[in-house]
Amino acid sequence: MTVIAIDGTFASGKGTLGKGLAAHYGLPYLDTGKLYRATAKRVLDAGGDVSNSSDGTNAAKRISAKDLADPILKSGPIGAAASKVSVHPDVRAALFKFQRDFAAKGGVLDGRDIGTVICPDADVKLYVTASPEERARRRHAELTGYGETLSVADVLAQLKERDTRDSTRAAAPLKPAEDAHLLDTTGMSIAEVLKAAIEMCDAILVR
Ligand code: DC
Repeated sequence: MTVIAIDGTFASGKGTLGKGLAAHYGLPYLDTGKLYRATAKRVLDAGGDVSNSSDGTNAAKRISAKDLADPILKSGPIGAAASKVSVHPDVRAALFKFQRDFAAKGGVLDGRDIGTVICPDADVKLYVTASPEERARRRHAELTGYGETLSVADVLAQLKERDTRDSTRAAAPLKPAEDAHLLDTTGMSIAEVLKAAIEMCDAILVR
């Protein structure tokens, strides 16, 4: 059962890479950020507060696979709310089993704590990042495609705030696992990132 764990910063390209690796190796793919985004959306839809742990935990307990398909989950405001709801340890605990059950059948998972908490025994762990400026440009282009009208400078400011919250929270902060392979995608095309990652994975998986 092959498990590839991908962690990394917001808009680092880890989702695109995760999908590419899953297709290459014929494995299922889970974007775990969508679990936190779907939780945040459920809290907001119910008129709750993402800063409140019990609002978040009640929502997280109800998340199932069918909640993850809604395209609104990728919007900027839902992402910011997801970053806030994900700081609560009880929210993380409520989403743990879904991720473990997925990984038990083998697959590619991307998120913030996959190599450290969810799949510490993953066959391959990758930690993906890029410079804040490049990530802001990429995310800006993506948001513009969804019809949002933020400037690159606004996106950069939000991204720095998000990096700080994701990496300084007490519960499962974003950080590379000790045995993760680092992949800095600054200046690399999607195809170059995928090629570099496949080389890293093949070096471990193909013996
Ligand atoms: O990867 P993303 O932008 O969709 O994630 C949205 C937020 O969810 C992110 O700011 C932090 C949180 N998250 C997390 O805490 N752990 C994960 N495994 C994935 C996402």
